[in-house]
Amino acid sequence: MAVSRRADTPEVDLGSLDFWGRPAEERDRYFAELRRESPISRHQPPEDLMGLADQERLSYWAIVRYEDVRRISRDPETFCSGQGTQFADAPPEFLEASLSFLAMDAPRHTKLRGLVSSAFTPRQVARIEDGIRLNARAIVAEAAPTGGGDFVELIAKRLPLVTISDMIGVPVADRERVVAAADLLVTTSDPEAFGDRPPIEVLGEALWTLTSFATELAAHREGNPGDDLMTALVQAEIDGERLTHAEIAAFFVLLSVAGNDTTRHTTSHALRALSVHPDQRALLMEDLDERMPAAVEEFIRWASPVMTFRRTTTREVELHGERLPAGEKVVLFYHSGNRDDRAFEDPWRFDVARDPNRHLGFGGGGPHYCLGASLARTQLRSIFGELLRVTPDIEAGEPELLRSAFIHGVKRMDCTFRARA
Ligand code: HEM
Repeated sequence: MAVSRRADTPEVDLGSLDFWGRPAEERDRYFAELRRESPISRHQPPEDLMGLADQERLSYWAIVRYEDVRRISRDPETFCSGQGTQFADAPPEFLEASLSFLAMDAPRHTKLRGLVSSAFTPRQVARIEDGIRLNARAIVAEAAPTGGGDFVELIAKRLPLVTISDMIGVPVADRERVVAAADLLVTTSDPEAFGDRPPIEVLGEALWTLTSFATELAAHREGNPGDDLMTALVQAEIDGERLTHAEIAAFFVLLSVAGNDTTRHTTSHALRALSVHPDQRALLMEDLDERMPAAVEEFIRWASPVMTFRRTTTREVELHGERLPAGEKVVLFYHSGNRDDRAFEDPWRFDVARDPNRHLGFGGGGPHYCLGASLARTQLRSIFGELLRVTPDIEAGEPELLRSAFIHGVKRMDCTFRARA
């Protein structure tokens, strides 16, 4: 579909990865135009770094308005996940080894998600909240004497790493290597991730690291059960059958990726936002405990660390006058929905007291709504509570952004602070 364009809007190609390395404000000039004039539009998939066959690279429909993202997320019978959820293409065997129930539909999705969902309920997360807070305290205390450095390494990546590793049962000695491999799965579109090697080789190696690690851990837990998710998975039965090691490994990959990058990048974007909006920081710090929950919702809306997920139409459906036959790829642009002025007043205002703030950061609702939402909120409250108490003057520099059409990521970001005694 042709998009009519105003003179002040830059000519862009959504399929160009360079577009996805630009700052969010810049990208949103284009999405704002789509939201206004072409709520549904057809595009080519992002550049192919993986050397895929042409038939795997179908064009897709972009869904950019808040209400449309919600409506589609909540109608899995018409818009399914079982035919893939990634916007960028990847070889099918890679997807199978890494997406687990994220790329499934009912009834299998419901059963597999059900195996671990009890560990992520708000009540269960409240039980581990003290531990999360203690970990946040230790991380900030360790960083405090440095006076600054790369915020991602010093602070942002550390709490999610400890939290999800503890939950799954990853031994301390293996955590860094597991997280490095999990990172690679969602960063292979950035030149820094693959250097002079073929991206597909880097991706394959990372996936192999994760799946072989998960298989060994599963085998170990079969003989040595613990109080962790891996033990729950090796003991679980669905319709009278145990999960295979390949299924457990895919589960592990999904939780490792979903549990790490998202919360880490939200932490970095939020610190940057607090640094360039001192009035909002001051407002939050006037009453940290009281104002933190609303601030965390704004951090997530502002960061929108997961930018896209895809669905496929299962039957003919009409959207804004376009007739989509069955089998069409439909991409939900969460970050665009989170800047839709039909849903948010002055959406480019960073407002730690925003109310209401029913953002799409965790998805638009429906069966795939983020399983880790409570866990992420609790971690964000804990780390910012601690940071703003111990290093209230912390300032972030310019973030170095990841080039990705999936994750709105910060690779590095300088920070400086003086720690309070
Ligand atoms: C700020 C942090 C986070 C953000 C913004 C985020 C965002 C999302 C989004 C947008 C989805 C897809 C929703 C949909 O398709 O309707 C999702 C799914 C998921 N998230 Fe998160 N997430 C975050 C943290 C976490 C954490 C800490 C975990 C812990 C393991 C987690 C686990 C998952 C899982 C397992 C799914 C798949 C759910 C399903 O398919 O049923 N997420 N997340």
